[in-house]
Amino acid sequence: MAGDEVHLSVAHAYDRWSAAYDAYDNPMVLMAARAVAGLTARGAGVVEFGCGTGRNLETLKAAGAARLVGLDLSEGMLQQARARDASFELHRRDMATAAPFAGASFDLVLFCLTLEHVVDIAAPLTDARRLLRPGGEVVVIEIHPFLSLGGLGAHFTLGGETVRMPTVSHRFCDYLNAFAAADLAVRACREWRPRDHGDPIPPRLLKHGPDRPYVVEFRLGAA
Ligand SMILES: C[S@@+](CC[C@H](N)C(=O)[O-])C[C@H]1O[C@@H](n2cnc3c(N)ncnc32)[C@H](O)[C@@H]1O
Repeated sequence: MAGDEVHLSVAHAYDRWSAAYDAYDNPMVLMAARAVAGLTARGAGVVEFGCGTGRNLETLKAAGAARLVGLDLSEGMLQQARARDASFELHRRDMATAAPFAGASFDLVLFCLTLEHVVDIAAPLTDARRLLRPGGEVVVIEIHPFLSLGGLGAHFTLGGETVRMPTVSHRFCDYLNAFAAADLAVRACREWRPRDHGDPIPPRLLKHGPDRPYVVEFRLGAA
């Protein structure tokens, strides 16, 4: 028999998911983490829009970043990030509004598995461009359009209850047009497949074979 299903707002859904999020068996997160591990930390400042529990900030700190800042809509996710590392600067913030920092303050602005909850992606990307120091990089790592357009979106099951939340399927043209509107130029694009994980490939990534990409990564600089 199927369990119960509830639909919550994005913030309430992540509040509910927060304590279990890092331990949750999620191939999308696993693949995105592999992509984040490939980023070289830009010596000074990193800000992540939709930082969640701070997993990526931790990876970037280990890679040498000095200032780690995270913005998120969910207080529950931010609590996990605070518990992870007291040195993180964390703000409860909807990325639809401008981040509370002066322009040209950061070397790396990261979006990871968060833009699927945002309808107008040009607005936060424009803000990310504003925050970039000369030579800095905006990195977008998101669910691959093949999967989101096929109906897959963030959801989780806890205690027999499946929680769904609003998601948006962004096509490649949506990303490219938003980057252009934000004055960002694509420097590189990668579609992360299980075979790109490196050995050993975790078995749970291989459910659909080694070649179906899970996430797309865009590396962007000032146009
Ligand atoms: C799937 S989690 C990813 C968290 C983190 N980036 C990671 O890779 O582990 C998505 C996060 O985006 C946040 N989020 C969604 N919409 C947001 C918005 N409009 N402004 C700020 N954060 C948002 C959620 O609260 C959640 O923590």
